[in-house]
Amino acid sequence: MNLLEVDEVTKAYGGIQALAGCSMTFEEGKINGLIGPNGSGKTTLFNVMTGYERADSGSVHVAGTDVTAASPDQVFSLGVGRTFQLTRIFPRLTVVENLHVASQRDGGWMSEFSRWSSPSEKVRSKEVLDFVGLTRLAAEKAGNLSYGQQKLLEFACIMIARPKAMLLDEPAGGVNPSLLLHLGGRIKALNEEEGTTFVIVEHDMEFVMGLCDKVSVMHQGRCLCAGEPETVRSDPAVLEAYLGTDMREVAR
Ligand SMILES: Nc1ncnc2c1ncn2[C@@H]1O[C@H](COP(=O)(O)OP(=O)(O)O)[C@@H](O)[C@H]1O
Ligand SMILES: [Mg+2]
Repeated sequence: MNLLEVDEVTKAYGGIQALAGCSMTFEEGKINGLIGPNGSGKTTLFNVMTGYERADSGSVHVAGTDVTAASPDQVFSLGVGRTFQLTRIFPRLTVVENLHVASQRDGGWMSEFSRWSSPSEKVRSKEVLDFVGLTRLAAEKAGNLSYGQQKLLEFACIMIARPKAMLLDEPAGGVNPSLLLHLGGRIKALNEEEGTTFVIVEHDMEFVMGLCDKVSVMHQGRCLCAGEPETVRSDPAVLEAYLGTDMREVAR
């Protein structure tokens, strides 16, 4: 089954056509990669899929529900969480306080609990911190973490709600190689243990090709092609799309 379906979506900013009839599907239980040159519309697609931007035309469905005009919290309550290209955490709060805030989010798993820090929330926070490997830094101000650790914290803040799908916008950007390996392992584990569906926008081809079951390629606001990583990597149209960009390593 397709957990996420984008059909003929358009989105313009002034004269810039960020999405130009984009159609894509992301299957439930899969780790999906979403690649494409800078400016090809990947972040805009994430924004439209998660209610942060409204499509000019076309439709978006989550597990069969039309979310084309839904708010971010409505999409979130259907089980779709996302991270941002520029990490959004609260730098002056501690790691564990960031998790508290995340778990109070409207539509999130904790919304039925009104009290701050109920026992079950504490248990879940601890579980999530253990899972991402940040337990040792629980009392540290988030702003003091390394960039990669902040990305892991943002990942934890989404994961705490037990989403069906996690959309990650450039999770590997600026993250050191050992943390990156760790992040890839955590994505794989969550996918295998809980069946979480992933859509991952990433420029690090090694990361994408090694992790993803399926890769979709965006070019000029549309889906250029989609398929297994090896097939996509050797598609002449994909290589052509990347020519003259900093992404020539995709050809290797
Ligand atoms: N809020 C915005 N205002 C104006 N232009 C935007 C905005 N968001 C994206 N764009 C433009 O839309 C195009 C696609 O951008 P984006 O979705 O960020 O691409 P990607 O994530 O693939 O690099 C780019 O030309 C970008 O400059
Ligand atoms: Mg982007």
